[in-house]
Amino acid sequence: MTLFSQVDQYIEELLAVEDQDLKRARLAIAQAQWPDQSISPVQGKLLQCFIHSCNAKRVLELGTFGAYSTLWMAKAMPHDGKLITIECSEEHAAVARNSIAQSDQCNNIELQVGVALELLTAMVESNTEPFDMIFIDADKPPYVAYFKLALKLSRKGSIIICDNVVRNGKVLDKDSSDEKVRGVQRLNTYLKTCAEVTCTILQTVGSKEYDGMVFAVVK
Ligand code: DHB
Ligand code: MG
Repeated sequence: MTLFSQVDQYIEELLAVEDQDLKRARLAIAQAQWPDQSISPVQGKLLQCFIHSCNAKRVLELGTFGAYSTLWMAKAMPHDGKLITIECSEEHAAVARNSIAQSDQCNNIELQVGVALELLTAMVESNTEPFDMIFIDADKPPYVAYFKLALKLSRKGSIIICDNVVRNGKVLDKDSSDEKVRGVQRLNTYLKTCAEVTCTILQTVGSKEYDGMVFAVVK
């Protein structure tokens, strides 16, 4: 085990212990034999800290996958809070729906199955109440479009987090032909001149592949 993994496990045992719902969700993802691309427990706890820091009552997630991050976030929200999570794959949504239904947070989570660009555009057009926090963790090529729509669904002080913007350091490769890498490179470059947020990128190391998250606060 790498040093980063060992330390991650140490932090997890101290500060990011999974409850039954989170264990069940992780097992369901493993049983489906999907790639190990959920956030780590320590990252889940970080999302909880962000939610508490802005007293988030309304949270939006793009890319439910197996609802592992969904549950971490929902568990930090108040009883009258609402988390909307969007997933385009019916196969992923079926597993997520099951894990959500069995969790203590089932009444606070709304899983929408569909194309995020369309669902978000509809939310903008119907003047949906702004979200306090938005977690972008869906397919990487449209990350700039997701971020721009997230801005339209935010207010001053909203937090926008984007997963996987370092990709094992591959963001440094200007000639990358990997569309996932190119998608996050476009976002990172866009953020350089985006006047609507104060933001930075946190590198994430630990039990998962070396990666990073955008942390943006809407001005
Ligand atoms: C991938 C997507 C993710 O959201 C993640 O955390 C890791 C990898 C991917 O599509 O490769
Ligand atoms: Mg991710």
